[in-house]
Amino acid sequence: MPLTNAQRLWERHEALARIGATGRGGVCRLALTAEDTAGRALLLSWASRLGLIAEMDPIGNLFLRRIGREPDTAPVWTGSHLDTQPTGGKYDGIYGVLAGLEVLESFAERGVVTRRPIELVVWTDEEGVRFQPTTMGSAVHAGAVRLEEALGARDADGVTAEDALAAQMAALGGVARRRLGSAAHAYVEAHIEQGPVLEAERRVIGAVTGIQGLRQFAIALAGEEAHAGTTPASRRKDAFVAAHRIVAALHRLVEDATGTTRFTIGRFQAAPGSPNTVPGRVEFTIDLRHPDLGRLERLTQGIADICSREAAPCTAAVTPLLDSTPVAFDPAMVERVRAAARRLGHEPLDILSGATHDAKFMAGLCPTAMIFIPCRGGVSHNESEAVEPEHLAAGAEVLAEVLRELAEE
Ligand code: GLV
Ligand code: MN
Ligand code: MN
Repeated sequence: MPLTNAQRLWERHEALARIGATGRGGVCRLALTAEDTAGRALLLSWASRLGLIAEMDPIGNLFLRRIGREPDTAPVWTGSHLDTQPTGGKYDGIYGVLAGLEVLESFAERGVVTRRPIELVVWTDEEGVRFQPTTMGSAVHAGAVRLEEALGARDADGVTAEDALAAQMAALGGVARRRLGSAAHAYVEAHIEQGPVLEAERRVIGAVTGIQGLRQFAIALAGEEAHAGTTPASRRKDAFVAAHRIVAALHRLVEDATGTTRFTIGRFQAAPGSPNTVPGRVEFTIDLRHPDLGRLERLTQGIADICSREAAPCTAAVTPLLDSTPVAFDPAMVERVRAAARRLGHEPLDILSGATHDAKFMAGLCPTAMIFIPCRGGVSHNESEAVEPEHLAAGAEVLAEVLRELAEE
């Protein structure tokens, strides 16, 4: 009998993908929206049939606990996130949650009772779309972002994360509260690779060695609104023109012959957004990634220098949103993933994660590992994200092995 039920795992992805379905094969289930709440409610319905005990911490991270033979020992955690990009796929994050659930269900079916409890964690707002920063729930859990700061984040309509979370907690009803920062014995997260490497190398399992560093910034340029027909260029303080200069200089700054630096302006807004008013304000985001901390620091300085040098006659404000340093996972944990994969007949590939994950904050708190499976064409953050059903099952089986081992320690 296989370690997991591949059909059930596939069907649960399909069921979750109906919540927030875009109609083009993708999913829009932004953090702390009604769709996110409905996704969590569906998960809770599956979890309650298994007798898992649900709790939420003050930033909304959801924990589903399966008790062990020694219920007071530190639990082993597994999980990921259920929120998606606005034009997201069915697997980014969802896989880590459903693979964890599948492992717990298959343990229940086989009568496996581990020494330590195992907790399935659903992190809040991993994607950082509606509320910034990205990986908000795990950042707050790890103390990298203050709770008050995260709860004070506002969406485009001015709604705070605090109010959105209160609405979710009320809608979910009955879920017990737990304090922030509870401890885990170890953390293992399964995820699709979101890149092309495993597929190109024809491997089913990636043993993730670490996660590259990520810094996110909000840039705000303040100029002056003016009439588009009457105001000569010499009298304008056009925030778009300043942004255009800054963005061109930033692209020169991040040029990298090796192609390692990742630089994205994913959101750009000019206000007031009227065709015949000179924009008085521009806001945009920067997402900057590199495996080397020194390079990230130099680029951070470069961003600040360019913004102050190129903004005039406007003014620029650079607000750091997130700083997650490059992370190397515990070598013994990576080895556990490799060994479990080999036992199950998959030759693993060591891989550094280009995408970020909640595991990066867990790595500072307890031994942490990630298991990658391929996604078709390496495509992710895209509605056409796709995987092979047998890869979902293979990754879950590796996860089952590793969790069982850790939970017996
Ligand atoms: C996660 O979604 C990331 O931005 O890498
Ligand atoms: Mn993800
Ligand atoms: Mn993502």
